[in-house]
Amino acid sequence: MKVIKNASQMQRIAFKHLLDGDEIGLVPTMGALHAGHISLIEKSVKNDDVTIVSIFINPVQFGPNEDYLKYPRPIKNDLQICKKNYVDYVFMPTVNDMFPSDHKTFVEVKTLQDIMCGVFRPTHFRGVATVVSKLFNISYADRAYFGMKDFQQLKIIEKMVKDLNFRTKIVPCPIVREKSGLALSSRNSYLSSQEKNFAISISKTLKEASIEFKNKPFNIVNKNALNKLKKIPNSKIDYIEIVNLNDLSPTSKNAKKAALAVAVWVGKTRLIDNIVMTK
Ligand code: PAF
Repeated sequence: MKVIKNASQMQRIAFKHLLDGDEIGLVPTMGALHAGHISLIEKSVKNDDVTIVSIFINPVQFGPNEDYLKYPRPIKNDLQICKKNYVDYVFMPTVNDMFPSDHKTFVEVKTLQDIMCGVFRPTHFRGVATVVSKLFNISYADRAYFGMKDFQQLKIIEKMVKDLNFRTKIVPCPIVREKSGLALSSRNSYLSSQEKNFAISISKTLKEASIEFKNKPFNIVNKNALNKLKKIPNSKIDYIEIVNLNDLSPTSKNAKKAALAVAVWVGKTRLIDNIVMTK
């Protein structure tokens, strides 16, 4: 496994693999790798000739009062995980390499970036779309692997790939959960054990909602789920929405499939989760 810290060098290496006919898989991450990331790495190692894991805590996707500085950085452990899971390259650029002070170009996916999480994190998805475009250009990835926990991010990247004709195919991967149901997230490390117990109600609520969705109108499902989330101690709900699976628009009354997506603060930690519901 090679650790590459420079974008031009990574791009040269990836281009050589492309010329050699290798299929390249990219797993974009911000580090603090957990079993969710490992499931993406495993898929790439299985599908692709070359697997690149990027570890870059992208400052451009954090708002001014968000957790950029305190975001976990267990780099030694991350590298061990990559090595153990047969990653070929870990791409770990510096902030200055990715976003030098004269950087001026940003990618925006209008409408999709402004709803749901975008209401509360207005510059977040612009930062994500921009860094992911750069990572695609640097890695020449044939496939890039994204977890479905970040459902809105996944939809935004799929739209960006379509609109801007990127060659990279997006591979959505299922949410990995703890036994308790809690969706894995690098931010779970912020939770105290008591908060973690409270947070379990989020996935429990989603699961119960998906059962109700089979025979109840979606607005009732939404209302019942909202009432359950409201009961979580020391919490604040940013949003709970039932949306169309393709374009995140509000679901229609007769939809046979929809996603229930939530963002909930437990203490000082903002957690997102979602479930795909079918009739
Ligand atoms: O999902 C993440 O970890 C990040 O948003 C991503 C896709 C690596 C971009 O920084």
